Amino acid sequence: MKLTNYGHSCIGVKVAGLDLLFDPFVTGNPLAKGVDLGVIPASHILITHGHGDHLMDAEAILKRTGARLFSNYEIVNWFGTKGVANGHGMNIGGSVHLGNEVKAKYVQALHSSQLPDGTYGGNPGGWVVTSAEGSFYHAGDTGLMLDMQLLKPHHLSFALLPIGDTYTMGVADAVEAAHFCGVTKVIGIHYNTFPPITIDTEAAKAAFSKAGVELLLPAIGDTIDI
Ligand code: NI
Ligand code: MN
Repeated sequence: MKLTNYGHSCIGVKVAGLDLLFDPFVTGNPLAKGVDLGVIPASHILITHGHGDHLMDAEAILKRTGARLFSNYEIVNWFGTKGVANGHGMNIGGSVHLGNEVKAKYVQALHSSQLPDGTYGGNPGGWVVTSAEGSFYHAGDTGLMLDMQLLKPHHLSFALLPIGDTYTMGVADAVEAAHFCGVTKVIGIHYNTFPPITIDTEAAKAAFSKAGVELLLPAIGDTIDI
C-alpha cells in the first residue's frame, strides 16, 4: 500500500490498484497550500462524517474524477442533492466491496455529524479497509471507546488516529486506542491544522514510542510505502 498525506484527516491510500481518498479537505487547510486539489487521484471517496473539515472538497473531486462516494446514508443523500448520483449510502456495521477484493466497513465513531448547511449528517463513523495487501483503520473524528477492541480480529497493519485533542482524542487516549485496536503502527491525523489542535509532535512520538507503538507523521504532500 502507498499512503499520501494531504493534511488534516485527508489521506489517500493506493491499494490493489484502487485510489481511496478519505475526508477531502484541502482548500480550507492553511497548512496544505502546496497541495494541488486538481491532481489528487481518487477512484473511491470515503467520508467519515458531515463536518466541513472532512468533506469541503469532496464535491469538486467527485465531479472531476467520477470517483464513487461512500459514507453514511444521510451524507450520501446530501451529496445527491448536489448532483452526485453515484453514492453508496451506508450505516454503522455495514460493509461494501470496492473492487479488486478490497472491502470497506463503516464502523462507529464517538463524535457528532452535522453537514455545513445545518442538515442532519447521520451518525459519525470510521472505516476499516481490508485487502490482500493488508488492512487498516481510518478512525475519523472520535474519542476513545472500548468498541475499538472489536477491530482486533481485522489484524490491522496500521491505524489512522486523531491526535489533536479538543475535538477528538488527544495523544494519551490515542495510545490507548492503538492498544485497543491491536496496532503497533499509527499515522497521526487531525492535528496542527488550527490553533485549538496544535500539539507537540516530538512529545507525541515519544509517548507512542514509550508504549511500544510507532507514530508516523508524514509531511503534508508526502507519500510513504506502508
Ligand atoms: Ni468532526
Ligand atoms: Mn474534524
